[in-house]
Amino acid sequence: MATNVRYAEIRFNDRPIKQQLVDPESFTLEPGEVTADYEARSPHRLDQLYPNIAGYRVVSTKRFMDPAEKGREEDKLWSKVWLLAGISSDIPNAGDWFRFDVGPQSLIIVRDKDNELNALYNVCKHRGNELVQEDFGQDATSFTCIMHSWRYNLKGKNVRVTDRDTFGPEALCQNLDLTPVHVQERAGLIFVSMAQEPMPFEDFYGDLLPMLDSYHLKDMFVVKHLVVDVPANWKTMYSVFNETYHAHATHPQIKPYVDDHFVQYDFYPNGHNRNLFAVGAVSPRWPDSRFINMGLAFFLQEAGVKAAGFKGDARHVRRAIQQAKRKVENPFGIDYSGFTDNQLTDDWNPSLFPNVTMNMHPEGVLLQRFRPHPTDPERGYQDVFVLSAHLAEGRRPPAYMGVEDDVDVSGKLRPKVRRTTHDDPQGGEVVEQDIANMVTLQRGMHSRGLNETIVFSEQERRIQQFLAELDLYLEDRR
Ligand code: FES
Ligand SMILES: [Fe+2]
Repeated sequence: MATNVRYAEIRFNDRPIKQQLVDPESFTLEPGEVTADYEARSPHRLDQLYPNIAGYRVVSTKRFMDPAEKGREEDKLWSKVWLLAGISSDIPNAGDWFRFDVGPQSLIIVRDKDNELNALYNVCKHRGNELVQEDFGQDATSFTCIMHSWRYNLKGKNVRVTDRDTFGPEALCQNLDLTPVHVQERAGLIFVSMAQEPMPFEDFYGDLLPMLDSYHLKDMFVVKHLVVDVPANWKTMYSVFNETYHAHATHPQIKPYVDDHFVQYDFYPNGHNRNLFAVGAVSPRWPDSRFINMGLAFFLQEAGVKAAGFKGDARHVRRAIQQAKRKVENPFGIDYSGFTDNQLTDDWNPSLFPNVTMNMHPEGVLLQRFRPHPTDPERGYQDVFVLSAHLAEGRRPPAYMGVEDDVDVSGKLRPKVRRTTHDDPQGGEVVEQDIANMVTLQRGMHSRGLNETIVFSEQERRIQQFLAELDLYLEDRR
């Protein structure tokens, strides 16, 4: 029987395209069910981790705009919790360093000659000048303050007080070394804590660490790095990425190839959670569950399966992609042997408390981090890192991550940080749609029409967990 083809207009990856609709009667295979066969559910239940969480939560909008709330967060959250500072592959060698700012605090993370990582407050002990102003450096042997040339080695030890004899001895009797903070490296990521005695690192991330390890981030490298200045509170920004409820409305273009409805939510202690959703599968919110639409065809072709003449309907696509990637000679050039089948197609989306969300695939990871502004509670920074695995020639990280066609993904060149604003976010269609929500949510929360409260549903219980965990910090119970 001839294949019956119809077309509808949809948008894919920011380009209007014709969607191909294929009559399922033309297929020879029996349709099978796409099942989200996730074998690694969290053993924890949200209602046991946080007994106060009901099915819904009403929250004051003040939390998202009040300067006093911002001050409390600086004192009780940011100064205590483990934070993702950066990416290991950005500082592979002795003398490599990067800067990490959160609110008014600035840190230097540096690999020293003994190959040890040090995290140090970025402030000179003389008059408090910031020591480094750049994002990154290489081949450093010391840090010299630009103002009066005091010098510190890579472990933070003061090695020069210029014209020392012009200071009275009392002035120099206190510790003149840079103040260190705790630092840990794991799964290709670097974490810091400014607490005197932080929770043990392994306890804090617990069950999430094996999953992070499984993606081999230590073998990935940054191909795109944005810092987007957004007129929104960091919690508003983070919450936008912490539920799947918005996907059908905010990102309607993904419905033909992402199942945003049958989503697995997992909850972990200490505020972390994740969701897993099938890619290469049609959303039940999309009216047509069988035709091979253009989005599915794209994923098939990318995995080396010819979409034209594909023997199956939409429900076979996800499995066909998984099988194609299992071949040793797969087009991505990746060894997928350590991954589960659903990792080969689906989006694994952990959120690390308090401010990181990752969309993970073996080929690449979209890592986003939300940081408070130094002074303004209604302004924040969104860091967008796209990490790529070492892929076969011509292959690129997943298209929705917004890596432009002219961006080099060979890993030879670490791209510069692109600083931009919500008006020109440069994040690709999906991320830009989310950023637009941040801005209008924050503006809307000022409306007298709201009664100073907003409400979260069961589908938004990852945000409920986030707020419940944040409360524990603000109430000195962490
Ligand atoms: S402020 Fe750094 S040397 Fe004076
Ligand atoms: Fe989104």
